[in-house]
Amino acid sequence: MDSRRILLAITGGIAAYKAPELLRALRKRGHEVRCALTPEAERFVSPLVLQSLSGRTVRRDLFDAGEEGEIDHIGLADWAELVLVAPATANLMAKMAHGLADDLVSTVLLATRAPVLIAPAMNVHMWSHPATQTNLAILRSRGVDCIGPEAGELACGWEGLGRMSDPATIAAAAEARLTPKSLAGERVLVTAGGTAEPIDRVRTITNRSSGKMGFAIAAEAARRGAEVVLVAGATSLETPWGVRRVDAPSALAMRDAVLAEFEAASIVIKAAAVADFRPEAPSDRKLKKEDLPESGRLQLELVQNPDILAEICRIKGARTVVGFAAESHDVVAAAQRKLARKGCDLIVANDISREDSGFEVDRNAVLFVWPDQQVEELPLLEKSGVAAQLLDRIEKLRAKR
Ligand SMILES: Cc1cc2nc3c(=O)[nH]c(=O)nc-3n(C[C@H](O)[C@H](O)[C@H](O)COP(=O)(O)O)c2cc1C
Repeated sequence: MDSRRILLAITGGIAAYKAPELLRALRKRGHEVRCALTPEAERFVSPLVLQSLSGRTVRRDLFDAGEEGEIDHIGLADWAELVLVAPATANLMAKMAHGLADDLVSTVLLATRAPVLIAPAMNVHMWSHPATQTNLAILRSRGVDCIGPEAGELACGWEGLGRMSDPATIAAAAEARLTPKSLAGERVLVTAGGTAEPIDRVRTITNRSSGKMGFAIAAEAARRGAEVVLVAGATSLETPWGVRRVDAPSALAMRDAVLAEFEAASIVIKAAAVADFRPEAPSDRKLKKEDLPESGRLQLELVQNPDILAEICRIKGARTVVGFAAESHDVVAAAQRKLARKGCDLIVANDISREDSGFEVDRNAVLFVWPDQQVEELPLLEKSGVAAQLLDRIEKLRAKR
């Protein structure tokens, strides 16, 4: 997404040690970040680290005007497109709920008109205390968003709800808060990754698809407010924020999962690289060398897998269905044939003969091939950029209906 101005407010909880990692995650995503600390936060994290990572003076004192030209607390409140409080202490939540403004962070929070996202972190009993829960309800009713806390082992020795969400999850939630909810009300089904077709108990036939493209689409759709289910093939990628994941490592499992989720979906994007063939009779134990015939050759009989895209296109109704085509030559012609054969609304074609795009890498150069034979060629983009372009096109298609 485009670079945005994010004020990272850090309060005095043990999880403040994760703030530099969060700052780096936000900067890596291209955002401009300024940091503001409560006096207590300084006991847990070094302002010098935050200053070095943000490239900006860290704001700490309400009455410290800062360097010449530094903006004041109202300027800071107005500058921010999002105020992200991570970690948010129980104390800070209480101050926000009651409108206290006795330090820089709480004053900025009272003055800002930007959306506010808090990532609470505290002892399990502090979190479940009625005071904290009432404060949370007040904040939510005013439109403050909350990410976490998560359950787990806490720094204080207790177990339970109270851990701050991990920095990558908070960064994704921050971006989602900044993204217009242009897909609100849509239910998006995305498939991603290659499939692994069993030969025996341990071996599979698979392909080079990493799943990164489909995961990027699922993440972007969730940011835009869609309800997203991601049917993931054989991939160990982490589930994007706000996405429900169903694992389906083989073609047959993927068909079952897609058909189970299809009914509820309004948009289906099939980015998975599903194997065309599978071993007809996989062994339910590990094949040993001794099992091989004297010739030393193992013959595998392959049978065709179901064509999931064609199958759902036949019953698609008012849904928007997008297919992917990975082609190594005659890319446009092959994609046009695929589109005509299957009857989907759009084919995204990648030229996998290129070294810099397609399988395993983070970037992709794709063509959008439309039913009216029009072809749109996109430049080499990050997969997140391709995902955004694709969803822009799908939104336009949906708006026309
Ligand atoms: C070692 C230590 C760890 C603490 N961890 C937390 C915490 O994780 N969450 C929390 O809400 N308060 C925690 N506190 C209490 C806060 O630091 C305290 O409430 C403080 O007033 C918060 O100030 P602030 O909200 O202005 O930053 C901790 C205190 C100490 C001494």
